[in-house]
This record gives sequence, structure tokens and C-alpha cells, in this order.
Amino acid sequence: MKQINVGLCGLGTVGTGVVKILTNHQEQIKYKLGTEVVIKKVLVHDVNKKRDVEIDPSWLTTEADELVSNPEIDVIVEVMGGIEDTHLLLEKALRNKKHIVTANKDLMAVHGQQLLRLAKENSCDIFYDASVAGGIPILRSLSDGLASDRIQKIMGIVNGTTNYILTKMSDEQLDFASVLQEAQDLGFAEADPTSDVEGIDAARKMTLLANLAFKMDIALEDVEVIGITGITQEDISFADSLGYTIKLIGIASSHEGKVEVSVEPTLLPHEHPLAMVKNEYNAVYVHGEAVGETMFYGPGAGSMPTATAVVSDLMEAVKNIRLGISGNSYITPQYQTQLKENNEKFMKYFIRMEADDEAGTFSKLTNVFTNEKISFAKILQLPGSSKGTAEVVMVTHKISKQQLINSLEKLKSLSVIKRMISYYRVEGEE
Ligand code: NAP
Ligand code: HSE
Repeated sequence: MKQINVGLCGLGTVGTGVVKILTNHQEQIKYKLGTEVVIKKVLVHDVNKKRDVEIDPSWLTTEADELVSNPEIDVIVEVMGGIEDTHLLLEKALRNKKHIVTANKDLMAVHGQQLLRLAKENSCDIFYDASVAGGIPILRSLSDGLASDRIQKIMGIVNGTTNYILTKMSDEQLDFASVLQEAQDLGFAEADPTSDVEGIDAARKMTLLANLAFKMDIALEDVEVIGITGITQEDISFADSLGYTIKLIGIASSHEGKVEVSVEPTLLPHEHPLAMVKNEYNAVYVHGEAVGETMFYGPGAGSMPTATAVVSDLMEAVKNIRLGISGNSYITPQYQTQLKENNEKFMKYFIRMEADDEAGTFSKLTNVFTNEKISFAKILQLPGSSKGTAEVVMVTHKISKQQLINSLEKLKSLSVIKRMISYYRVEGEE
């Protein structure tokens, strides 16, 4: 078989790792594929920038057409990021019959279905395993290893930056801003870390996971998203005293054809396996009807882990070229997307509020919850931040999201409640 030529778009954190793996593992890659995989051109912003890896300067270009319209190039590896311009670039590549490997969840969450359809029309492959959970082969596990099962729930930590920040805030009592800077320096955070800390990066990944698992066309707008910027040291410490760790958890679940996809700070019992996932590591629980519970764990971000997934996808594309079966990576959504209503979503909640420290306060609080038929698993009361107030922390038994919304509204209108401080979902215990 002829040598496979690659056009690499991007030579930053991930692109550098791709070059290193293709160079250092060339012999093994050639042995497994029966052909050599060679980088022909590399698209960058600035050809004069100092790079972390040695490359032939003649590979570098700022002209996308030298890759996507180059008849010598077979596969485009896109690790440069961006949505709309990158979308146009990949569309052009597909029309020119180039296979695509991408780590770009921002793009795939928005234009993935259309690009996959276009790839199929052009008998090309698109693989994007690196876009979810970095080095963990989770998309491949859903589409191959668990293909025969019906997936009921996916729950996991799919953003390395926020897990790194929450780990340092919890274990070392560090403040949010300094830890975010560390995550950026280590190469986990996105160029604009807003999408990490606001939960959007995780939401994009959950969309990709949910669509693959439930065979639907769930849009990013269908995901309920809350980021980690509102989490305080006090929240962490109150959660800790009740036996919980706070993590940014993505959940996608399906019941009788209706689905729920969310990303939000969630309390997990300290001993829960996801509570023990530290730093930039990711972990994803998959619950299948037949297989039961499986868990995937590994580095969710960073240069070499992500590049491993990218190069493995590249090898898959090359295998398909060799076998003449390219263009079958897209499975049309099988079911209409049906989202659960708030009265169909059930979970436990941690609720924190500041109240007047006087006789009768508790009876007014409990009245609200009794009227909403909410009962409690745990209650804690401590002196509040100002004189004459008390801080009340409660963990409910399982209630519907609608019950939570109704009770929060009523609590806010009580004169004995000084402020509603925070509320979080609780998972991982009955
Ligand atoms: P990065 O370090 O910022 O690198 C981006 C690279 O792309 C740079 O080499 C840049 O060129 C080039 N580039 C960007 N826009 C360009 C344009 N319009 N034209 C030409 N070149 C352009 O980004 P990264 O962290 O490697 O991430 C790349 C992609 O992988 C993103 O989609 C990201 O979401 C995804 N991803 C990243 C990680 C991670 O851990 N970092 C993990 C999983 C997925 P210059 O070098 O000349 O500036
Ligand atoms: N910014 C992302 C994260 C990179 O922190 O998980 C991996 O997708």
C-alpha cells in the first residue's frame, strides 16, 4: 500500500504531541498498518514561532489550501480549534475526498452531524475520539465495545481543567484564579478558559457522548449547564462536613425514550469512585442495560494523552483506506430527541441558606418543604456570617427538579430567610 500523507492543522499543545508520536512510534505504526504515515504539511498562524518539537521548516504554511486542496494529502488532522472557519475548512477537505481526524469538540458539538453526513456522501471517514476525555477511548468504546448494548446512563468528569481547579481548591484550599492560571500553564485549559469554567466544554462533550449513546440528535442547547465559578471555599467545606466532595459532573440519562443531559457542580460521597478522580484526570461511568456498570478512567487533557487518541484515530482511518471501507463512520440518528420535563428528573439536593436565628424559623422552613412533600436526609445548622443569623444546610431525599424550583421560590419569599446561598445536585447514594 502507498504511503499515507497527512496534513496537520495546528502545531500547539496537541499538534506537537501528534508530531512526537508519529515520529517516535513510526516503526510500530508502520508495522501495524503495513504502510508509512508521513506529515506533508502543517498549518499554523505563525511560521516563525519557536516550536517544542523539531520539524522540517518547509512543512509549515499559513495557507489552508496547501493542505485541503493538496492532491498528495490523504488525511487532514485538525488540532487547531475554532468553529466556523474550521468548519468551512473541513467541509472543503471532505469535498476534496480527504479523511478527517479532529480533537475539536466545540466544532463537532455544533456541526458534527452535518460533517459526518458530508463525509459519508464523499466516502470519507471522520474520527473524533480525542474530542471527549482526551486519552480515554470513550467514544470508540461506545461505538464499538458496547455497540450491542442499550446505554441507559453516562455520568462522568469530562473536563480536566475544572477537575484540576476543584481538586486544588478542595485539597489545598487554593483560590480559583491562581489554580486556573496553573491549569492554563499546564496546557489543559482552552485558549479562552471561559468555556472550561462555565461548563460549556463539558456540555459539548456530553452532547457527543449522549448522541452516540442514545442515537439521537441532541443539541448543545438541550444541555442544562452550570459551571464552577460560583463554588466557594464555604460550599466545599460544608459539603465536606456532610461527607461529600464537589465535582463538575456531566450526566446523560435515558428512560422510556426520554433523555436528560446536564453538566453541573455535583456532590458525591467521599468514597464514590468519581469523587476520588483528582487533578486533570477524567472518568466516565457508562451504565448499559446488559453490561451493567463500567468505568473508564485516564488523562482527559494534555499534549501526549490527547495526541495518543488523535494518532489512534488516524490509524483507524488508514486501516479503513487499506480495506476500502471508508465513509461508514456515520450512523444516522435512530430516535427523535425527547427531553425530560422538570417533573420527570429526580435527584437529591444540597441546599444552603442564611436564616434568622430565632424561634419559629425552622417551623417556617419545614412548612415550605412539607407543602412540597420534600423530606430530608441530612440537616446541619451553624452560626451565620452576621449576628443573629444561622446558616442552614440541608440534603433532601430524592425529589423532582420541579419540587426544588417550587420550594426555592417559596423560601426566597420568607422574611426569615436572609439569602439563599447555594444549591447543588447530589449523586451516588440512594
Ligand atoms: P493550541 O495549543 O492553542 O494550538 C493551536 C494551534 O493551531 C497553534 O499551532 C496555532 O498556530 C494553530 N492555529 C489556530 N488557529 C489557526 C488558524 N486559523 N490558522 C492557522 N493555524 C491556526 O491548542 P490545543 O490545546 O493544541 O488544542 C487544539 C484542539 O484540540 C482544540 O480543538 C482543543 O479543544 C482540542 N483539545 C485540546 C486538548 C488539550 O489538552 N489541550 C485536549 C483535547 C482536545 P500557532 O502555533 O502559529 O499560533
Ligand atoms: N480544556 C479541556 C479540558 C481540554 O480541560 O478538559 C480537553 O478537552
